[in-house]
Amino acid sequence: MLKILNIVGARPNFMKIAPIYAEMKRRGSEFSPLIVHTGQHYDAKMSDAFFDDLGMPKPHIHLEIGSASHAVQTAKIMLEFEPVVLREKPDWVLVVGDVNSTIACALVSSKLGVKVAHVEAGLRSWDRTMPEEINRILTDSISDLLLTPSPDGNENLKKEGIPDKKVKLVGNVMIDSLFRNLEFAKASKILERYNLNEKDYAVLTLHRPSNVDDRETFKNLLNALSEISRKIPIIFPAHPRTASRIEEFGFSDKIKSSNIKIIEPLGYLDFLNLMSNSKLVLTDSGGLQEETTALKIPCLTLRENTERPITIEMGTNILVGTNPEKIKKEAFRILEKENYTKDAKIPPLWDGKTAVRICDELINYAETCTK
Ligand code: UD1
Repeated sequence: MLKILNIVGARPNFMKIAPIYAEMKRRGSEFSPLIVHTGQHYDAKMSDAFFDDLGMPKPHIHLEIGSASHAVQTAKIMLEFEPVVLREKPDWVLVVGDVNSTIACALVSSKLGVKVAHVEAGLRSWDRTMPEEINRILTDSISDLLLTPSPDGNENLKKEGIPDKKVKLVGNVMIDSLFRNLEFAKASKILERYNLNEKDYAVLTLHRPSNVDDRETFKNLLNALSEISRKIPIIFPAHPRTASRIEEFGFSDKIKSSNIKIIEPLGYLDFLNLMSNSKLVLTDSGGLQEETTALKIPCLTLRENTERPITIEMGTNILVGTNPEKIKKEAFRILEKENYTKDAKIPPLWDGKTAVRICDELINYAETCTK
C-alpha cells in the first residue's frame, strides 16, 4: 500500500487534487492518501468553498502559512512541511501545478529522499519573469515521476534532458473535475443572481502580477475591457490581489461607469456554471485557458505567452496580450460570430479519466524504473 501526501495550497490546486484523492480512496487496498493544505490561500472564498463544492474532506494536515513575499512564503512552507514528512513517512509526495506550495513541498521531500510525483509537469511559458515558470522548471527537475497533460509537456522535458522513463503522458486532471461537476453546476443560481442570460455575457478574471500590479498596464486593460462591455456585459469575479489594486489605483469609479460588474471570487460550481454559459472568457489564468478548451468556449488570454499552447491549437484560445487594440479586435470578431468555436477540438486525454491514469502510473513506477 502506498502512503501519499497530496499537497494543496492555492485555489487552482483544489480541482486537481479532488479527483486524484477520490480515485486513491476508491482503490483503498493500493493507496493510503492524506491531504496536506499549506494555507497559501486562506480566504473562505479562495479555499474552503472549494472543499465543499468538490466533495473533498477537510485537509488532514493544515500548515496555515498565509500570505508573504515569495521567499518568506516558500521558506515558511518548507519549515512547516519538513516535520510532517519526517512524522508521516510517506512513500510519495504528490504536488500539482506551479504555485509556491508546489516547489516548496517538492524540495523538502526530495531532500528527505521521499519520491515526488508532479502532476501537470512539462508546461513552459519560456518567460522566466513569471514566478510560476521558475516553480515549474525547478519542480520538474527534482521530481521522480513527471505526469504531463499534453504531448508538448513531454517534448519540453525531453529538451531539458529528463529521462523518458520518468515522464508519463496522463492527460489533464482538472478536466476530470470539470466533467464530473458540470451536472451539479446546473443547480447554481448564479445567472439569476446577476440577472444574466445564457450566451449573452462575457466572464473576466485577472490576477497575474504583470497585469494588475502595474498601474499603466492595468489601466490600458480596463480601457479596452470597458469598450468591449458596451457590446456585451462583463462579469468580473475579482481575485483578492486584483481587488486591492483596484482600490489602491483608484479604478473603482472607472469600472462602475462601464458595463463591467465586479463580484467576489466564486466557488467552483457557481464559476463553472457562469463560465459554461458565457459567450466569451477573457483571462490571464492558466486553468481557464484549459477549461474553456474542454467546454469549447472562446477564450482571449490577456498575456504575451502561454504555457498551454495546446489550447490555441484546439481552436478556442487566442493570445491577445495587453495591447488594447488587439484585445478589442479579437473580442469583436468573436462576438460577431454565431458559433466561433464550432470546429474546435478537445485534446485526446482530456477525457475525465486522468486521475485513474495517475494512480496507475504511481503503482507502475517501481516496475518501469527498474527496467
Ligand atoms: C497564486 C499562484 C498562481 C495562481 C494563483 C491563483 C504562486 C506563485 N502563484 O497567485 O500561480 O494562479 O494563486 O489564485 O504561487 N490573498 C488573499 N486571500 C487569499 C489568498 C491570497 O487575500 O486567500 C492575497 C494575498 O494577501 C496577496 C495576494 O492575494 O496579497 C496574492 O496571493 P498569493 O498567494 O501570493 O499569490 P496569487 O497571486 O494568488
